[in-house]
Amino acid sequence: MSERTMVLITGAANGIGRATALELARRGARLGLVDIDAAGLESVADELKRLGVPSASRVVDVTERERLREAVAGIEAELAPVDVLVACAGYGTLTLVPELEIDNLKRTFDVNLFGVAESIEAVLPGMLARGRGHLVGVASMAGYRGFPWMISYSASKAALIAYLEALRPGLAKRGISVTTVCPGFVRTAMSTNVPYKHKVKMIEPEEAARHLARAVLRRPRNCVFPFSMRMSLAVLRLMPDRVFDWAMRQAGPRALFVDF
Ligand SMILES: NC(=O)c1ccc[n+]([C@@H]2O[C@H](COP(=O)([O-])OP(=O)(O)OC[C@H]3O[C@@H](n4cnc5c(N)ncnc54)[C@H](OP(=O)(O)O)[C@@H]3O)[C@@H](O)[C@H]2O)c1
Repeated sequence: MSERTMVLITGAANGIGRATALELARRGARLGLVDIDAAGLESVADELKRLGVPSASRVVDVTERERLREAVAGIEAELAPVDVLVACAGYGTLTLVPELEIDNLKRTFDVNLFGVAESIEAVLPGMLARGRGHLVGVASMAGYRGFPWMISYSASKAALIAYLEALRPGLAKRGISVTTVCPGFVRTAMSTNVPYKHKVKMIEPEEAARHLARAVLRRPRNCVFPFSMRMSLAVLRLMPDRVFDWAMRQAGPRALFVDF
């Protein structure tokens, strides 16, 4: 990665976004950081300063169009035009039958789909004008099949996966690559809040960050990690609906303290 590469990361204050910022910094990138968590963002910015890495950060909600666009413009003016967007900001809670909550569904879509779309639209005009760029969206395995304990989250990530896929061919013609990232279980606040009955094998955010950094370098269409998750995803995607429903009825109550 060249020292001139400018990467904008949303959700950069915690978890995968934070670890990715630090990993990319070690590989020589300049970094724009966006998050709603002011204290977390300040702590990443301090760490980047200690490493001597040029960075600019803004506390902003990715769902707030005007504020986000101002923030991105400010970061670009301070540092450089965005070469790569890593849209990592995400929101996820348990949602179960029968307690469906439309407000929760809307909030989840706001962050996980519209927040990514807003982030993309904030950087896309510049990328189109320069005829190059890379958009990286962080989705989830829960977007490939509907997980009955995270109904809202699954629906939002499914929409995100389709959105990113649909953007890909048209943007490729204009020099812009699109990568859909699908992490396995990563030890962050989001995953450790899930009431699992048994210990779930999780990778550390630093390992996830190494995969993301490789994806920024290589620009694959899809980036699924770790390897075991690639296998699980292949099986899940091919599983007939009847078998999937049965597996969920078995796996859900066995894996979680909640039922549906
Ligand atoms: N962890 C996993 O196992 C896993 C697996 C698959 C996919 N993912 C995806 O990976 C991405 C990162 O998740 P993570 O596990 O690193 O979660 P995390 O530790 O909770 O980090 C997410 C960050 O995004 C911020 N954020 C949330 N809503 C935002 C908004 N509207 N505007 C700006 N920033 C916002 C959060 O701030 P607050 O902390 O203040 O809310 C937090 O700093 C998410 O898209 C998630 O869906 C995670």
